[in-house]
Amino acid sequence: MLTMTPPNSVQTSAIAGENSTLLEWDTAEFDRCFNKQPFLIRHRLCENPLFSVERLLKLAQELPENDIEYNAGNLPINQDPDLTPRNGLSVADTVRRIKECKSWMVLKHVENDPAYGKVLDDCLAEVRTQSEAIVPGMMSAHAYIFLTSPGSITPYHMDPEHNFLLQIHGSKIVHLFDGNDPSIVSQEDFERFYGGRVRNMTLADENRSKSWVFDLQPGYGLHFPVTYPHFVQNCEEVSVSLSITFRTPDLDRRLGIHSINWKLRQRGWEPSPVGKHRLLDWGKYQYYRAARRLNMI
Ligand SMILES: [Fe+2]
Repeated sequence: MLTMTPPNSVQTSAIAGENSTLLEWDTAEFDRCFNKQPFLIRHRLCENPLFSVERLLKLAQELPENDIEYNAGNLPINQDPDLTPRNGLSVADTVRRIKECKSWMVLKHVENDPAYGKVLDDCLAEVRTQSEAIVPGMMSAHAYIFLTSPGSITPYHMDPEHNFLLQIHGSKIVHLFDGNDPSIVSQEDFERFYGGRVRNMTLADENRSKSWVFDLQPGYGLHFPVTYPHFVQNCEEVSVSLSITFRTPDLDRRLGIHSINWKLRQRGWEPSPVGKHRLLDWGKYQYYRAARRLNMI
């Protein structure tokens, strides 16, 4: 599955959209690949001053503490999240010294700032024109800004949302794996992720060569299908990227069934995989919803 895809291979001739749009993509590729395979898009955010390091310092100083996560960036691909080393700096100093402090930082829920919220809304309004026919019910839109030092690593993990990662400054190499391949993500991996809320995973040596590899340059974005594992290597400059994400109702069902399976497995059961017994899946999801309403889960 190894596919080295340089950004200049995007088929711009088939891209839809006027110059007033923030995003551009190949409409046929979007239909064929959305939530099944990664694909590259283009964006027009590189010149936007909201994404300068100086402006991000102001944003970081205004965000609630809980919406900022940062740590040392010189990590192994398989990093135990409980043992992730801190970088010994404050939030502000991490941003100010991002060029040399070997750190990784994410600013979460930046849509709560109206200026960044408008960027998210405008981008997702464009995505919705085509995603809605594939995964209806766009909801829970969130934006995340990643600010990373040269050479830093985002360890191997997966995420629960529909996602486009828009590269704005610097570049990064993204290694993305097929989340529908059971040799890469097992049922137990899904249960641990959804039920145990464990984001980081372990990449087996025999799976390392199975990834798509993207050299993500400024002006390009990459679609990450839901729960497709990945790790990211920053290149030689400071990197700024924006992740625009949303969920759909089908993902809540998936979360619910895997969460119940996780609880069953914790009690020594061997739960049936999602999709094997439709009625059983339905029952598990109904139980999950009821338990959630009663704050039991
Ligand atoms: Fe991720």
